[in-house]
Amino acid sequence: MFDFFKKKEVKKDITLDYSSIQVDMHSHVLPGIDDGAKNPEESIVLIKKMMRLGIKKIIATPHIMADYYKNNEETIGNALNILKAELKRQQIDIEVEAAAEHYFDETLEGRINNHTLMTMGDNYVLFELSFISRPKNIFEIIKKMKDLGYKPILAHPERYSYMDIAQLKAIRESGCDLQLNTISLTGYYGKDAKKTAENLVDNQLIDFMSSDMHHPRHAEAFENSLRMPYVEKLLKDYPLKNIMLR
Ligand SMILES: [Fe+2]
Repeated sequence: MFDFFKKKEVKKDITLDYSSIQVDMHSHVLPGIDDGAKNPEESIVLIKKMMRLGIKKIIATPHIMADYYKNNEETIGNALNILKAELKRQQIDIEVEAAAEHYFDETLEGRINNHTLMTMGDNYVLFELSFISRPKNIFEIIKKMKDLGYKPILAHPERYSYMDIAQLKAIRESGCDLQLNTISLTGYYGKDAKKTAENLVDNQLIDFMSSDMHHPRHAEAFENSLRMPYVEKLLKDYPLKNIMLR
C-alpha cells in the first residue's frame, strides 16, 4: 500500500501546513548559544517562518555537547529570556519553551545520574548520537534514562548511516521514541537519509517530526517539505506525538 509513495514522488504545490502537529520540538532558534541562530534577529526570521507554516508552539533545543557547546540550564534559560524579550518587543505572539538536544558523549551518563537533563513535556529527553559510529552502550543508557523516569527521544534516526532499519527498530523497541527531521524527506541530507526516512515512515517507526531548524536554508527546506507526499502522509494520517507537547 505504500508503493504509491515510493514510486511516484511528484513535487506538489503547497496545499497544507504544519497546524495538525502544532508543536515543533527540535530546533536551534535560541540566539547565540550553539550553531543555530546567531542573534535575536536571526531567531525571529526562523520563528516567523515556522509560524507562517502553521506551527503554534516551538520547543527550542540547543545543543549540549561537552566538547563544543557547554550549555546548561542557565545558558539556555538566559537565551530563552533574551528571545522572549525580543518577541514581546516586536509583538510576536507564539509560545516558545526550551529544552535541549543532549549529545551522547561521556558526560551524558553523569547528567542522567544527577537528574540534570533538560526535558520537555512529560519528562521527554531529546538526545543525538555521533554521526561516525554507534556508541556501544546505547541500550544501557536508554535503560538508565527510563529507570530514572525519563522518556528518551532519539533525534534524526535517519541520519546515522551506520544503522539500518532493524537497528533503529531495536532502539525503538527498547523504549526510545524516534524523531524524524522533516526535511530529510526532501533529500536535504542526501539520498541515504531520505531513503531511511521513508522506510521509517513506511514501517510506522516515527513518533515525532520536527524541523531541527538552524538557519534560513533549513527554514526554506521546511517549507518545501510540504510538497512531499511522505510529509503529507505524516501530517494527515500518522500517530505522531508532537501534539502531546502542546
Ligand atoms: Fe538538532
